[in-house]
Amino acid sequence: MPFPVHRMRRARATEPLRRLVRETHLAPDDFILPLFACSGVGVRRAISSMPGNYQLSVDELVKECAEALRLGIGGVILFGIPETKDEQASGAYADDGIVQQAVRAVKRELPKLLVITDVCNCEYTSHGHCGLVVDGEVQNDPTLEWLAKAAVSHARAGADMVAPSDMMDGRVGAIRKALDQSGFPNTPILSYAAKYASVFYGPFREAAESTPQFGDRRSYQMDPSNAREAMREIELDLEEGADMIMVKPAMPYLDIIRQARDRFDAPLGAYQVSGEFSMLMAAIQNGWLDRDRAILESLTSIRRAGADFMLTYFAKDAAKLLA
Ligand code: PBG
Repeated sequence: MPFPVHRMRRARATEPLRRLVRETHLAPDDFILPLFACSGVGVRRAISSMPGNYQLSVDELVKECAEALRLGIGGVILFGIPETKDEQASGAYADDGIVQQAVRAVKRELPKLLVITDVCNCEYTSHGHCGLVVDGEVQNDPTLEWLAKAAVSHARAGADMVAPSDMMDGRVGAIRKALDQSGFPNTPILSYAAKYASVFYGPFREAAESTPQFGDRRSYQMDPSNAREAMREIELDLEEGADMIMVKPAMPYLDIIRQARDRFDAPLGAYQVSGEFSMLMAAIQNGWLDRDRAILESLTSIRRAGADFMLTYFAKDAAKLLA
């Protein structure tokens, strides 16, 4: 006879009691802040669908990073918007590419900040797909060479970790081999292991100017209907040498995060993607949701599902709320 012996409300009665029994905690170093690097000096170009986010020239990006470090955020992940795009994604693996320049500048000014680079081609190809396109099809194996070169160029620029997000088969192994052969055996790989073909990347594609010019990404990113397939993707990436794994998006895929947490012991990240951010921001700006609580509850849910760390456009706001 549970009631009235048991009253669940007793332990909820005061904030000290609630604090004592709290199961899930957030800290600034759980958050990775995504940033977009572009050319120029003094550039802060607002991204209209992602209020508070900007395309940043390298000098401005360094300032953002300084603030991130001051707030105790876990790190940043860098994306690039090159001046020109081509069929070969040459900006993705150029030694003086925009991300490579940004990494050098950040690591020179802020050596203590963890700098992760996104390794992909879609921001750098004229057609916006993540690899080499022949006869309208994204080619897997030739794309691996570009990805490997990009990862090595990021490591050479000083990146602390590389994060492939392209969803080609075999890319983790190809990148691991190239890093090892180029003198970077200690550079870890954070694999976007279970990345879904999601509508929630829409605002990012405005930010990174990477919308596919034809077709979509469903021949390489995962079908949102599939969960077991995500476990196979993760398993393969770990076998190929991934040091950490990621599920993306986060809130619509909390079940995948939980399954991955229960099944694998590797560090697990989750990406609260642009569309998740923009949805919340739209409601916040309309006064429909309380800003601070929406930020913290959304991140708490992702952490409770099992993520060790979160990539989130709310990284700075959340760190300030926890301070
Ligand atoms: C690159 C990449 C994308 C995102 C991260 N890396 C876009 C895509 O796959 O189309 C999305 C991040 C976000 O929406 O915040 N492939």
